[in-house]
Amino acid sequence: MRIVTIGNGNVGGGLARLWTRAGHDVTALGSEGGDASDADAIAVAVPGGAIRDALAKVKGIEGKPTVDATNSLTGPPEGYPSLAAQVKSIVGGPTIKAFNTNFAMLYDQISQQRVAPHSVFASDAEARTLAERLIGDAGFQPLYVGDLSAAPTLEAQIAFTMLLGGGEVGPYFYRFATTDL
Ligand SMILES: NC(=O)c1ccc[n+]([C@@H]2O[C@H](COP(=O)([O-])OP(=O)(O)OC[C@H]3O[C@@H](n4cnc5c(N)ncnc54)[C@H](OP(=O)(O)O)[C@@H]3O)[C@@H](O)[C@H]2O)c1
Repeated sequence: MRIVTIGNGNVGGGLARLWTRAGHDVTALGSEGGDASDADAIAVAVPGGAIRDALAKVKGIEGKPTVDATNSLTGPPEGYPSLAAQVKSIVGGPTIKAFNTNFAMLYDQISQQRVAPHSVFASDAEARTLAERLIGDAGFQPLYVGDLSAAPTLEAQIAFTMLLGGGEVGPYFYRFATTDL
């Protein structure tokens, strides 16, 4: 697949590395923006408060399937239930909320784990298969929690993620177990 990441920092640059290793053709755009016309999917990996500005600098995003990995410590932008909803309102394509609960600094250690760590995601129905592929190709096991109405809950995890990651455990992978395992 051809993938454009909007943002080339920890998350955008990191996902670009992982997806390239999985055989995708990935372009990671920095803050100067660029062209996503040829992309089969785009990933948004900029600060939550920079979404509108960053997307305005990228041509050809309209209607593209989109993975939103953003977080914000101040909650969603005014007028939107979630950052993912803001992304969707601008791009207009099927939208996925993913990777926002996983530490980018651990991406290079995913493949060394005994079992694949989970990555919780929410998705529009028509993008669920794509989400599972992109999350799987990054090395995580995708864990679906519902449609995009679940995005506010995933975004609200940032406080817990920082609390736990900044404490005794440090940056962590996670994996949930069901009671019948
Ligand atoms: N780091 C993590 O572990 C982690 C995990 C999950 C989710 N997230 C979320 O993912 C997003 C990216 O985090 P990150 O750690 O990758 O940040 P980062 O390393 O600082 O990278 C941010 C990227 O966004 C670009 N950018 C910043 N402001 C912009 C603007 N106004 N217009 C266009 N591009 C702009 C930066 O370009 P320049 O470098 O040129 O400024 C850079 O490419 C954030 O929403 C963060 O909360 C982070």
